[in-house]
Amino acid sequence: MKLSGSTALVTGVGVGNLGHHFVQQLLERGAKRVYATARRPENIDAPGAEVLRLDLTDRGSVAAAAAHAHDVGLLINNASVSFPGLALSDGDPDLIRTLFDTNVHGTLHMVRAFAPVLATNGGGALLNVLSSAAWATADGFHVYAASKAALWSMTDSLRAELSAQGTHVSSLVFGMAGTPVVKALADAVAGPGALDDMMTDPAIVVSRALDGLESGRTEILADRLAVDAKAALSGGGPSVYATLTGAQPGPA
Ligand SMILES: NC(=O)c1ccc[n+]([C@@H]2O[C@H](COP(=O)([O-])OP(=O)(O)OC[C@H]3O[C@@H](n4cnc5c(N)ncnc54)[C@H](OP(=O)(O)O)[C@@H]3O)[C@@H](O)[C@H]2O)c1
Repeated sequence: MKLSGSTALVTGVGVGNLGHHFVQQLLERGAKRVYATARRPENIDAPGAEVLRLDLTDRGSVAAAAAHAHDVGLLINNASVSFPGLALSDGDPDLIRTLFDTNVHGTLHMVRAFAPVLATNGGGALLNVLSSAAWATADGFHVYAASKAALWSMTDSLRAELSAQGTHVSSLVFGMAGTPVVKALADAVAGPGALDDMMTDPAIVVSRALDGLESGRTEILADRLAVDAKAALSGGGPSVYATLTGAQPGPA
């Protein structure tokens, strides 16, 4: 997809996070208009963008955004919640539901509301932001991992369903980017700077994502953790289970 001259909508834009870099780099690559969205627009740091309040879990809010941003040709589903420490086996069921309502159902609300908009604007493209946790879970992130695994499968199915209207459907997969929230969490858990070497600069992740979109890739692996996790799925790469959880994957 050609980004120069495009109109894009990005979910989950905050200060210094992935959404912020998406907006900034889309504008740098010549996008005509970028809608920067989040539940709390007062937190959006996106000079040059049009700011919209949007809550993925509220279908009315999603419908209003689709009605307003009717010129969108690129939808970037980036927003999510992770609730570190939430366990599948005994975590708060209401929080588990909120996480799935946001990451899975919320993303699907966005796709369903914007698919006709993309069709009207020539097909366009849709990028869902996944995580290597979809392929290799990590301690403290098991519910989040399950939601991203669902989103992985959903993205492949949407590619099949939306191909008839000419919409390019792509996924972005990476393991760890040094966004403010993730950096603060890593510092608190492992000690200041202890995990910095595992983190990719969020600006680099976004640059790889946009390069991938421009070259028509359907799956964009933006860091080493994603490459290793994908390889480990078929037993052909280093064990990410050992790296991320301390456990061995067991016999094939
Ligand atoms: N950073 C990493 O290491 C990493 C690794 C793999 C994948 N990812 C993925 O990359 C994406 C961005 O990560 P990040 O580190 O930039 O996260 P972040 O800073 O926590 O940003 C998430 C954004 O989602 C928004 N959001 C949350 N709930 C929402 C809702 N119901 N409706 C609308 N917006 C909502 C938040 O804004 P409000 O609270 O204001 O709404 C926030 O701006 C996520 O999909 C994440 O899963 C990140």
